[in-house]
Amino acid sequence: MSYEGLVHTPVMLAEVLNYLQPKQGGVYVDGTFGAGGYSSAILETASCKVFGVDRDPGVQIFANALHQKHPADFKLLEGNFGEMEALLSEQNISSVDGIVLDIGVSSMQLEAPDRGFSFQLDGPLDMRMDKQGSDAAYIVNSFAEKDIANILFTFGGERESRHIAHAIVKARAEKPITRTLELADIIKSAVRHGKHTINPATKSFQAIRIYINRELEALQYALEAAERLLTPTGKLVIVSFHELEDAAVKSFLSDRSGKKTGGTSRHLPQTAEDTRKPTFKLLSSKAVLPSENEVRTNPRARSAKLRAAERTYAEVEAA
Ligand SMILES: C[S@@+](CC[C@H](N)C(=O)[O-])C[C@H]1O[C@@H](n2cnc3c(N)ncnc32)[C@H](O)[C@@H]1O
Repeated sequence: MSYEGLVHTPVMLAEVLNYLQPKQGGVYVDGTFGAGGYSSAILETASCKVFGVDRDPGVQIFANALHQKHPADFKLLEGNFGEMEALLSEQNISSVDGIVLDIGVSSMQLEAPDRGFSFQLDGPLDMRMDKQGSDAAYIVNSFAEKDIANILFTFGGERESRHIAHAIVKARAEKPITRTLELADIIKSAVRHGKHTINPATKSFQAIRIYINRELEALQYALEAAERLLTPTGKLVIVSFHELEDAAVKSFLSDRSGKKTGGTSRHLPQTAEDTRKPTFKLLSSKAVLPSENEVRTNPRARSAKLRAAERTYAEVEAA
């Protein structure tokens, strides 16, 4: 597994910097380091410190290159961004001025066939970002049909989830499914032929990836950690590519910025939630989308949504 020679074009980089506002002497966390596009740009913008976090050990080569350029100001912390508080505490850091997340897979992960993320390149059915725990082959070969269908529907929005799960279970009875292209073919044969604008395996692969990497769980932990870690006026900037991830970010920020009214009645007693002081101020009321020009030049950007908020002076109250 080597990412040598592979590149990742950072998505919405100008917008990320615009909302993050890196400042002299600041401390920043790039929670999804990847090829280091954001980290590198932050370090070029201001004389500050950046901690990159990534759970994929393969990104070390990009971290080494950036560390050579900024030996005193950049460090990669290998691990899950959901555990960033513990990772930072090992570096004696308990507060930061900005956190950025660019959630999902990198171009390197998609283009390295041995990682098993791609439905277009043949490789082992793996999809584990940190190579820990159950891989995709384990899910498709051992989970019950209804559980596979649920995963495809919940995390991929796949409407043909039941047909696909049925075809998977039928195919694995003949022989275990071990390769990415095998699974892609099974999915293709199971979906009813309509006008597909995307590869029929897109949603299923995405769903299995999100499930095995517990991506939504990590995001929830990261949002709560950000609330504790950010100093007053510190910035949180999140780029996501999936409806469920964006919904989680939107819901958290609406809640913490006091935007969720929840339809409370004046006749009902006030709850702790009603009286909680906002810990975040939204920096844009709606999700920010990439420019047409960016989508034209980098099609990966087409489903990106950016949300940004600033930490207020309010203390975090116990839930
Ligand atoms: C879209 S790429 C980030 C690209 C990066 N912004 C750049 O400019 O190169 C997402 C990266 O986040 C990592 N990642 C995804 N989920 C993670 C998690 N929960 N914890 C740590 N890293 C994660 C992936 O391994 C991948 O390298």
